Amino acid sequence: GSTALRTFSPFASSIVLFTKRRTTRRLTSASSNAIFICSTVSSIFFSVIVDFPLIVRIIELNVPVILGVSEGAVKYMGSYLVVADLVKALVKSLNIKIPVCLHLDHGSSLESCISAIDAGFSSVMIDGSRLPLEENIKITKEVVSYAHERGISVEAEVGHIGTTEDNMTKEETNATLEDCQILYENTNIDALAANLGSVHGFYKKEANLDFETMELINKSLPVPLVLHGGTGIPDDKIRMAISKGISKININTELQSVWSKAVRKYLLENEDVYDPRKIISSGEAAMKERISEIVTLFGTKI
Ligand code: 13P
Repeated sequence: GSTALRTFSPFASSIVLFTKRRTTRRLTSASSNAIFICSTVSSIFFSVIVDFPLIVRIIELNVPVILGVSEGAVKYMGSYLVVADLVKALVKSLNIKIPVCLHLDHGSSLESCISAIDAGFSSVMIDGSRLPLEENIKITKEVVSYAHERGISVEAEVGHIGTTEDNMTKEETNATLEDCQILYENTNIDALAANLGSVHGFYKKEANLDFETMELINKSLPVPLVLHGGTGIPDDKIRMAISKGISKININTELQSVWSKAVRKYLLENEDVYDPRKIISSGEAAMKERISEIVTLFGTKI
């Protein structure tokens, strides 16, 4: 892997943040390697369209930001290009100097990843975790080949991260060290989401993370580890995960929920308001406050 900072011309200030050991120390604090991901954020992009103060507010926190965008959010927004151009324009117009990474979350196909990269995303995830390992490796390799030629980083997934709707039973499978090793050695990915017990959405019972395997994978492979399903994991387990080598934590559901609660309250208290900008932005202070707490918990620094 490269030891240089990867910067991308479409985003004057953007840097791929999957950088634990191979690249910059600049983005890691002394106490932890954790960096913050504001994941999926269709609501943020929604805000961006209408009045974009939320991204600006996040940026005021002065921490590196990974904007994780799902395929669903891209569909909602119109296209990869709409998303990339919006973020690019924001970074440029507001003269944003902090690292901003635009990342495709859970890309489901080579085509999706190519579309994101061609539009100007700085990082993609190819999620082949539902496939048998050999097929996961094959598709991941194809994405890595296209992405690395263009200086774009790639996250892959081993073991399948379920959702709480799956009831944490049928869909979910935990990663093994061996599978992680095989995938990593065959693909040269930049970040690895090894599922070790987390799920997307609110947990029905407390997250049961396999810290032992997490540590083993971290010690065995020089690749930053990603924890999906950050919503609802208690603070002490988040700290533990960071100490065991997690470098990127995805949080989405919780932020959407915080935002919705604030907007709901605002609407109930202001029945005469009809301006969408007022309604949408009424959720932003609460979201920013929660993001600020998360950033402190993670030990994220610029
Ligand atoms: P949560 O919605 O459970 O926080 O998970 C987010 C995530 O992992 C996105 O990839």
